[in-house]
Amino acid sequence: MRIVMPGGTGQVGAVLYRALSAAGHDVVVLTRRPVREHEIGWDGENPGPWTRAIDGSDVVINLAGRSVSCRYTPATLQDMMDSRVRSTRAVGAAIAGAAKPPRVWLQMSTATIYAHRHDAPNDEASGVIGGTEPGVPGYWAYSVKIAEEWERAQRQAETPSTRKVALRSAMVMSPDRGGVFDYLLWLARLGLGGPVAGGAQYVSWIHDQDFVRAVEFLIADDEIDGPVNLAAPAPVPQRSLMRTLRTAWGVPIGLPATKWMAELGALALRTDTELLLKSRRVIPGRLLETGFAFHHPRWQEAAEDLVHRVRTSR
Ligand SMILES: NC(=O)c1ccc[n+]([C@@H]2O[C@H](COP(=O)([O-])OP(=O)(O)OC[C@H]3O[C@@H](n4cnc5c(N)ncnc54)[C@H](OP(=O)(O)O)[C@@H]3O)[C@@H](O)[C@H]2O)c1
Repeated sequence: MRIVMPGGTGQVGAVLYRALSAAGHDVVVLTRRPVREHEIGWDGENPGPWTRAIDGSDVVINLAGRSVSCRYTPATLQDMMDSRVRSTRAVGAAIAGAAKPPRVWLQMSTATIYAHRHDAPNDEASGVIGGTEPGVPGYWAYSVKIAEEWERAQRQAETPSTRKVALRSAMVMSPDRGGVFDYLLWLARLGLGGPVAGGAQYVSWIHDQDFVRAVEFLIADDEIDGPVNLAAPAPVPQRSLMRTLRTAWGVPIGLPATKWMAELGALALRTDTELLLKSRRVIPGRLLETGFAFHHPRWQEAAEDLVHRVRTSR
């Protein structure tokens, strides 16, 4: 298949590019700074010669969007919103204008769309969309709004010959440098992988190989459309996620951090505590209903596999 991946230069793009090109597909990446042979330039906003790559392709997987690992200020939040909504609209317009549109458009969204909650898991049918939870910082609602607008931009695109799926993905755990697993492992190795603010907040995650398999499954299934949760069926509280990771690497201690310590750490690392403190309890209702089988459904085994791959690749 010919697969076009706008925004495919980041962590998730690297995981997908590696797997899909190894599977024999012709994968083209749209980037603002094309360097490699398989990359084509675009600005994430306006039509241009890049739209020719979409015309005649089989699949589009749009991953573009400003990184969420930054300090959340009015300016960065606006940038996160604009980069996602505008690039999704641009992709939709390119598909709408194609003489031979792709069969399927997988659009990245996020598991962050669901409410901060501990009491029950969120699936697509009965999950609670966030934004109105009491007792959480007001700006957390904005991340939910970004996700909603992102999905709306895809939904509103008039692409009648193209099946549309929104990937409500949890954190994709891969051994790559600079990815979220690398960051968590770094904290654990420093002895800082203890509970943050009590550690009861859930972390939803998905092993990179299951993420790729789920993407392939959603490409192949001709029926599924709309939002689909991409998350392992067993989200875990943050304190046990980190404890398991420490055990997998062999780190005896993990110092706990209060909310204020997390604030200071996040400030130093130029990131935001929402990524650490929001309880993301998300399960893959539709994937399981449609017969998708996870190879790495449990965190302990997934963490051991990822640690092994880090150790053997560095
Ligand atoms: N990583 C995860 O675990 C995870 C989980 C759930 C959802 N997501 C979402 O999935 C997407 C991909 O994740 P990722 O971790 O691979 O992100 P990433 O490493 O930040 O990569 C996203 C790509 O988007 C492009 N981009 C940034 N700003 C842009 C703009 N203003 N206009 C157009 N393109 C822009 C960049 O490509 P160029 O600089 O090459 O143009 C960048 O490589 C993101 O939207 C992210 O929010 C990620």
